[in-house]
Amino acid sequence: MRFEQTFMNFILQHQEKHNRTYHFLILMDALISAAKHIQHYYLTGMLRGNLGLTGTVNVQGEHAMGIDHIAEEISLHYLRSSGRVIHAVSEESEEMILMDAEGGRYFVYFDPLDGSSNVSHGLPVGFLFGVAKRNLDGPEDGHLRPGKDYIAAGMFVIPTGTFTLALKESGTWRFHIDDTMNFVKPIGVILPEDSKTWEFSFNEANRCSFDQRVQTWIAEEERKYAFRYLGSLAGDFHRILSNGGIFMYPAIVSHPNPEKNRPHGKLRLMYEAAVVAFMCHEAGGDAVDEAGIPILEIQPKEHHQRTALYVGSKPLVDEIAQILRG
Ligand code: AHG
Ligand code: MN
Ligand code: MN
Repeated sequence: MRFEQTFMNFILQHQEKHNRTYHFLILMDALISAAKHIQHYYLTGMLRGNLGLTGTVNVQGEHAMGIDHIAEEISLHYLRSSGRVIHAVSEESEEMILMDAEGGRYFVYFDPLDGSSNVSHGLPVGFLFGVAKRNLDGPEDGHLRPGKDYIAAGMFVIPTGTFTLALKESGTWRFHIDDTMNFVKPIGVILPEDSKTWEFSFNEANRCSFDQRVQTWIAEEERKYAFRYLGSLAGDFHRILSNGGIFMYPAIVSHPNPEKNRPHGKLRLMYEAAVVAFMCHEAGGDAVDEAGIPILEIQPKEHHQRTALYVGSKPLVDEIAQILRG
């Protein structure tokens, strides 16, 4: 029989090697449990035709809870019971969520179900999270942290059973769920340097509404690469991490219907853009916003703040960043 190293064993070794406490292990156990639970719900809900879109009413006349709210409830349950989280910020809740954990030491920023347009097809969605740690020695600090302060960030691609985790200054790894429902077989992820596998990923329908400089750059570059877009950040970014290239969600500045402009981009900084930027950085890549500023440097002013995002292989991100800064 052949056995692979489990995620929990991997993380335990990591903590011991770096002389760290077990608190992070307990937090990771909560996140893993939440992701497995959401994946189970996603798969079985799909089979029962029970993925309830928000605002729908079921046959009993009750309001069905959307899968994104269910995913949030599941996540909050596990995060709360970990007893390690001070505040959580979720895409699904307007306000920051106080966890009341005495001795809590982490801030968790998460999107329990990202890529909602894929839900009714049962296609990949993401559970994205970033973790920052409270300043345990000095004065109490707030939860509005730039990505460079995160100690870890990760994503589950649901329901494919893949999990990617980046640990600060320690790299990015990918795990797969096996038949025993354990995440196993850590594989270090480094963005490939050879551009022959690189891909471009963005919503082509928005292209004519991007800044002119971005449109020109895309026109110059695109023929060199394959184009892939699923409309689910976790799935699309998963490909970029493996194959290299760039994922973009630029600002939308010249839409024929001005109401559809998104001058600050679409994606949320704290639990979408900074999460993938952190994983990409640890895998040797980079990420910038519409002004060419590194995503990990942006100090959030509020927790649902949006940003444009260019993330992927360093040479490509550097190129577009230079154009955007100019
Ligand atoms: P949401 O948070 O509403 O589920 O949005 C999904 C995100 C992200 O997963 C994806 O990269 C992007 O929005 C897709 O947006 P478009 O449909 O505009 O391309
Ligand atoms: Mn989202
Ligand atoms: Mn969401």
